[in-house]
Amino acid sequence: MDYASFYRHSIDDRDAFWAEQAALIDWKKPFDRVCDYDNPPFAKWFVGGQTNLCHNAVDRHAATHPDRHALIFVSTETNQEVTYSFRQLEAEVQRMAATLQSLGVKKGDRVLVYMPMIPEAAFAMLACARIGALHSVVFGGFASVSLASRIDDATPELVISADAGSRGGKIVPYKPLLDEALTLAVHKPAKVLMVDRGLSPFTRVAGRDEDYAAWREKHAATVVPCEWLDATHPSYTLYTSGTTGKPKGVQRDTGGYAVALAASMKHIFCGQAGETYFSTSDIGWVVGHSYIIYGPLIAGMATIMYEGLPTRPDAAVWWSLVEKYKVTVMFSAPTAVRVLKKQDPAALSRHDLSSLRALFLAGEPLDEPTAKWIAEALGKPIIDNYWQTETGWPILSLCNGVEKADSKFGSPGKAVYGYDVKLLDETTGEELTAPNQKGVVAIEGPLPPGCMQTVWQDDERFVKTYWSSVPGKRVYSTFDWGIRDADGYFFILGRTDDVINVAGHRLGTREIEESISSHANIAEVAVVGVADQLKGQVAMAFAVLKDASRAATPADALKLEGEVMKLVDEQLGAVARPARVRFVTALPKTRSGKTLRRAIQAVCEGRDPGDLTTMEDPGALQQVKDLIQG
Ligand code: PRX
Repeated sequence: MDYASFYRHSIDDRDAFWAEQAALIDWKKPFDRVCDYDNPPFAKWFVGGQTNLCHNAVDRHAATHPDRHALIFVSTETNQEVTYSFRQLEAEVQRMAATLQSLGVKKGDRVLVYMPMIPEAAFAMLACARIGALHSVVFGGFASVSLASRIDDATPELVISADAGSRGGKIVPYKPLLDEALTLAVHKPAKVLMVDRGLSPFTRVAGRDEDYAAWREKHAATVVPCEWLDATHPSYTLYTSGTTGKPKGVQRDTGGYAVALAASMKHIFCGQAGETYFSTSDIGWVVGHSYIIYGPLIAGMATIMYEGLPTRPDAAVWWSLVEKYKVTVMFSAPTAVRVLKKQDPAALSRHDLSSLRALFLAGEPLDEPTAKWIAEALGKPIIDNYWQTETGWPILSLCNGVEKADSKFGSPGKAVYGYDVKLLDETTGEELTAPNQKGVVAIEGPLPPGCMQTVWQDDERFVKTYWSSVPGKRVYSTFDWGIRDADGYFFILGRTDDVINVAGHRLGTREIEESISSHANIAEVAVVGVADQLKGQVAMAFAVLKDASRAATPADALKLEGEVMKLVDEQLGAVARPARVRFVTALPKTRSGKTLRRAIQAVCEGRDPGDLTTMEDPGALQQVKDLIQG
């Protein structure tokens, strides 16, 4: 079928289309209704059906191809390389599931996963799915305050963690950060399950902290059947940043997610059972959920879980894995490619990459020089795709599994089947139908299967945040600017809100501001995202001091800057650390007191700050300008 017809079918005959896709997964009980959109914007998919994510990702393949590779763990940090077949993965997941049950975890409970990229993290996620508990994975790079706020929102019954991760050969202890977070959090989980990698000694809290190795031993042969869950049963929550400081728990369902991922593996990623998929993301991000764990496994593919840097021991390490495991589909982020681009160019030619069919890149804009370089170096299609934590799978992409299409530099492709993508005028909400007009990228409800059901425990916030931003229209806003050309290819032009994208990591500037403000000498601060050659964007902070004499000399200012950075490291994690913290005597504001973040950002990027007629004190913006140019 040509893609245009396939796409139209998905929108015009929505239920028939998704009923066809639903055949890609196993159902314990067939659904009665494909989509219930009686209460917009809340969509319920495959109502009445029963299934299980873990069954579809593990058990069904263990039954038919027990010896096929399922999970390939590679750590260039600890020099470990372990391959689990589907049969072995099924056994490990059951041991973990039995342990969770022994520790009191029941269907519907939350389990917070704060772990490095180790197999036990995958076992934990799949074990939760198996018994109907909701996992909530928190990226290992986040520190105690970020972790505590997520613990309080998710109110987990149990936290699973490890002694440490490792990065660039340096041990990164997790347990002290977790202990600190558990002190800060109001909610106290009953149990903490610890995986001891023997990397970093830690203290155990008696009665609370449990040792996974001992429990695994105890449950060496325990059978834990998959719990058949309603398709609408929540599978997990994943926190992501938005405009306000408080992260949102994106809640996903079970059946819709399984179907959406299975369909994407077929139509977008073109992955076949028995092949190997390599996503270089982290389980703490949505790409890790959908395309390290669930997507590839649901498709019966082996998935590589990689702990380490792309440049260690050398810049050929990823390509050596492609050769060794005959990777057919690879997924990464533009930042990683830019890092590799700076390394030895011969790294790419040292390995046999003939198995690889395509490299998918997502998470941030793919600039043309980077796209060209990697396309030429690899000699394979580079497929830029655009989506969000909220959607769980691509909104814009090429769907080469349906019909081969050419990519255009700078474009993540066309609207993916199932997504009724619109461009809207920001102020009037009018749909922009003519080509090459700039508007807010929006999606007409219902969101397709696999997308967020709601904000965890906050339906009102779901409606208010995502469905109320365009006046007079109940339509989902992505908070991204975009344009569409005459051929239907979209170009993404950046966020309309305060979310920034640092090295493909999505961060809320408000969260960083809150952290900086907790410093005793900071009166006020504005954080903006500034274009960066390597990371795409970096955070820049401009702060007003309570006692300006503390930054009177350049040396004092540098010392204070270091203090603020350390504070952000300790509270939120190094991922959120601003590239610079500069001190000013006032922030540029409107007469009504709103901080002009866009003007600060423009000045930092050397652009014209635009209309400043409402600005209270032009001297404040001049200070920013002087610091940047100085
Ligand atoms: O601004 C868009 C940008 O990343 C945001 C979503 O980030 P996150 O929730 O972490 O999900 C990433 C899933 C891949 C979007 O709102 N973004 C994502 N992909 C692209 C992109 N910007 C430009 N091009 C992309 N391909």
